[in-house]
Amino acid sequence: MAARGPRPRPGVLDIAPYVPGTSALPGAHPVIKLSSNETPFGPSPRAIEAYHAASASLSRYPDGSARPLREAIGAFYGLDPARIVCGAGSDELLNLLAAVYLGPGDEAIYSAHGFLVYKIAIMGRGATPVAAPETNLTADVDAILASVSPRTRLVFIANPNNPTGTYLPFDEVKRLRQSLPDDVLLVLDAAYAEYVRKNDYESGIELVATSPNTVMTRTFSKLYGLASLRIGWAYCPPSVADALNRIRGPFNVSGPAIAAGVAALTDQSWAQAAVEHNEVWRGRMAEALAGIELKVTPSAANFLLLHFPKGSGRSAVAADKFLHGRRIILRRVEEYGLPDALRMTIGTEEENRAALSALASFMGGNGAPHR
Ligand SMILES: Cc1ncc(COP(=O)(O)O)c(C=O)c1O
Repeated sequence: MAARGPRPRPGVLDIAPYVPGTSALPGAHPVIKLSSNETPFGPSPRAIEAYHAASASLSRYPDGSARPLREAIGAFYGLDPARIVCGAGSDELLNLLAAVYLGPGDEAIYSAHGFLVYKIAIMGRGATPVAAPETNLTADVDAILASVSPRTRLVFIANPNNPTGTYLPFDEVKRLRQSLPDDVLLVLDAAYAEYVRKNDYESGIELVATSPNTVMTRTFSKLYGLASLRIGWAYCPPSVADALNRIRGPFNVSGPAIAAGVAALTDQSWAQAAVEHNEVWRGRMAEALAGIELKVTPSAANFLLLHFPKGSGRSAVAADKFLHGRRIILRRVEEYGLPDALRMTIGTEEENRAALSALASFMGGNGAPHR
């Protein structure tokens, strides 16, 4: 008789595992990887130096509350470090928030093309995910409010959102907060906040400072180029920070991560140069891609969502395959409900030009840029 092993809680096996962007192709030749919204410039040399220096104390546990990092973030943004909780990437914090506030019978809302980790975090707690329709691939506050039920406990909004790149102006975020019931936690995931240059945008700091039921999450994985070290942080109302601190792992951020994160923050000229590059190349790429008849969703982040024509032999799947032939990797987004699109991270100038030329060949059908 086959032994009966342990059974996961109901709901866990209904979760479709998160599939990260492709990062390698068969063969030894280098690839151009524009599939995971990483900075093309890597981390600041100061962060790398701090990381190496931290190798001298690998046998020691790190500060359990990532205090040096919380203090550095607090000093940089003018926030109370006691209200900051750090995590192994913001993914961990999103999951911890679900663990604290959701259970079977509860509902949590996210926007239809919202970051996939929300659905996984919600279902992982046995709660019910509720996808609110979007308008023009942008979170729709009225649709979110219409999705609220007496069971709603939490709303996740990525602002800007991945994979669409669209954002909600601060007025809309405030309206959402004001209209949600007070006992519903609003989580503003601002993983791409540093890239946004819009006068009507606010990452969430102001709202968290002034409301007892809003959390903002941030990451060092994108602009600061430390994705592999796994560093995220949440700015929280004191009661939320207290709850998160009760259930997180006692040493959930490693010593090298803390050291590198602190050092990365001191090098703002490195970070600003990367923002500047993104600003210039996001604009240039959007314009050039429109010129080869690809529809591009306006993006506030460090990536673009490209829409391929349906039924023309120039589908997103065909484009992906074609690009792989040229050793270029973009991100398929079918699991986000966007089968006709690919997401492209803004890379170095050389990478951007290579991607553009390959896409032009694909759209032109004969290797020549389409006119
Ligand atoms: C919207 C959004 N939130 C959170 C994350 C998670 O980032 P990390 O766990 O590396 O901090 C990502 C990464 O792709 C993202 O796109």
